[in-house]
Amino acid sequence: MSKIEKLGNRFIDMQPLIVANWKMNPKNLVGAKKLFDLMKKGIKDIKKAETIICPPFVYLLGLKSKLLNLKLGAQDCFWEEKGAFTGEVSPTMLKNLGCQYVIIGHSERRKYQKETNEMINKKIKAALKARLKPILCIDNISQIKKGLKEILQKEKNLILAYEPLFAIGTGMACTPEKAKEMKNKIQRVIGKDIKVLYGGSVDSKNAANYIKQATFSGLLVGGASLGVKEFIKIVENVDRVI
Ligand code: PGA
Repeated sequence: MSKIEKLGNRFIDMQPLIVANWKMNPKNLVGAKKLFDLMKKGIKDIKKAETIICPPFVYLLGLKSKLLNLKLGAQDCFWEEKGAFTGEVSPTMLKNLGCQYVIIGHSERRKYQKETNEMINKKIKAALKARLKPILCIDNISQIKKGLKEILQKEKNLILAYEPLFAIGTGMACTPEKAKEMKNKIQRVIGKDIKVLYGGSVDSKNAANYIKQATFSGLLVGGASLGVKEFIKIVENVDRVI
């Protein structure tokens, strides 16, 4: 089956991305490996959805050897390739550790690390140069700055994640109707069909609605990605509606 299929007059992505953002969890590598193994086992029969685990940097190496039906992503990267940047991790380092994706501009980084659109713009360019697929998080259109809009228009490997602030970690997910409005607005601003994920209090009950009803290309899952059963149910429910 082709990954993109035509439905009516629009193309729908037949391979939704389910991205697990573990944030600063779990507490040790043993816990990370256990979580990873259980998820890998739980989704072994999933045919269509692509599942990407984004653990903290320090667990990437330990999980690299455990890949198969799961892919690896990072939660951030720096914009330089190497050099005197204490504490930073470059996109090339992530690529060499087996990452295919990197989350950039998450609202928690914008808030606690004071990341600006300019910094995020540089990170996106650096990630693309290292052949990582960036997942750019936004909660409003103004965050697609001029420079970024141009990259979004020409880059097929850049993915957007719409994460409304009120929905992140609150249990108050955005309704699929409202989320769809924003998705359509994003597509209009960019002027072409690009992959847009939804994130913010996704759980096994609401997950499929964002794909089927609101036509998102996938989900960015925070809290619910730390519970094995719940996360597997999210992936199964999405896989079922495609
Ligand atoms: P949440 O987090 O699913 O816990 O709301 C989503 C995110 O921050 O990416």
